[in-house]
Amino acid sequence: MTAAGSLPPRSAVVAGLGGALPDRVVTNEEIAARLDTSDEWIRTRTGIRERRQVAPGQSTVDLAEEAGRAALGDGRADAVVLATSTADQLCPATAPQVAARLGLGTALAFDVNAVCSGFVYALATAAGLIAGGIATRVLVIGADVFTSLIDPDDRTTVPIFGDGAGAVLLRAGEPGERGALGPFDLHSEGELAKLLWVEAGGAARRVSDDPKDRFMVMQGTAVYRHACARMAESSRAVLEQAGWMVGDVDRFVGHQANIRILQATAKQLGMPADAVVANIDRVGNTSAASIPLALADAVADGTLVPGHRVLLTAFGAGLTWGSTVLTWPSLP
Ligand code: COA
Repeated sequence: MTAAGSLPPRSAVVAGLGGALPDRVVTNEEIAARLDTSDEWIRTRTGIRERRQVAPGQSTVDLAEEAGRAALGDGRADAVVLATSTADQLCPATAPQVAARLGLGTALAFDVNAVCSGFVYALATAAGLIAGGIATRVLVIGADVFTSLIDPDDRTTVPIFGDGAGAVLLRAGEPGERGALGPFDLHSEGELAKLLWVEAGGAARRVSDDPKDRFMVMQGTAVYRHACARMAESSRAVLEQAGWMVGDVDRFVGHQANIRILQATAKQLGMPADAVVANIDRVGNTSAASIPLALADAVADGTLVPGHRVLLTAFGAGLTWGSTVLTWPSLP
């Protein structure tokens, strides 16, 4: 019998995984044919060879639905937490539409916007819903159509970003069982919001005479520096909370922003290069979809197997960053 006001400890346990990418592949050569850049520059500075882009009419809801369906399998969920900064509409949130399309009845559903850190923030939010007894099975989706925020003439952002979605199903389980998430380390630094910023479209400035104000502007070098420092710092913090040593980590699944950021962070941590999970060459930076898509690819190609101890670390606009750990479970 549980004392009034307290609950038995419940962890959020990974029970399903899925990803979704638009069909259209945009190669470096295609970008270099219309902007002042080259395949060589993009590959050597970012590690990206190609990325995906939605078809006209295809949106965040569509990608989120496909990834969510794959993660659900035959299962159900009583909550949907959708990480996105490219919601289909400014209002309402996208998650309820995804829940409806997935036939989840009146499941609680809302969006989390922490941009490229959104998936880790959404995992923490979902873990809290489960720990608090508010939900039992939570579908956590990261989905972004970042090409809708990118100035098609900006050579500093066009090569980097792509569209996609990834999802995990979380179920209530025991702390310490395989697949149980946590602890979490989450942070923000709003003073640096303008390092990655879309000026217009929100409540502060709904419209602008300059169409460029609708697009993301990025101070790439500063972002690069902060990303390396914060991802390393957060990784160390979460490992310490978990009681893990760096050498305990089998797979480092960082936000896929730039292969050099992933490699530099792993090096700072003293982690071997072969622990780094990377699919950025094929998808670019897919923002909130980045980590679950990297997980899905790593499971599909056998890089990530049950029993692996996994460190997830993200960094994004806001600024925001965060990390968590889990031991990878067997999935249906
Ligand atoms: N093709 C060719 N040249 C380019 C270019 C492109 N696509 N983009 C920029 N350049 C040029 C710059 O104009 C600059 O020229 P200059 O030296 O004549 O001024 C030169 O390449 C070097 O630019 P710089 O920005 O210093 O390069 P970099 O090594 O920092 O790499 C990024 C640029 C954007 C790849 C890198 O800063 C980065 O990855 N930053 C983080 C971005 C990110 O992760 N964003 C999302 C975070 S969630």
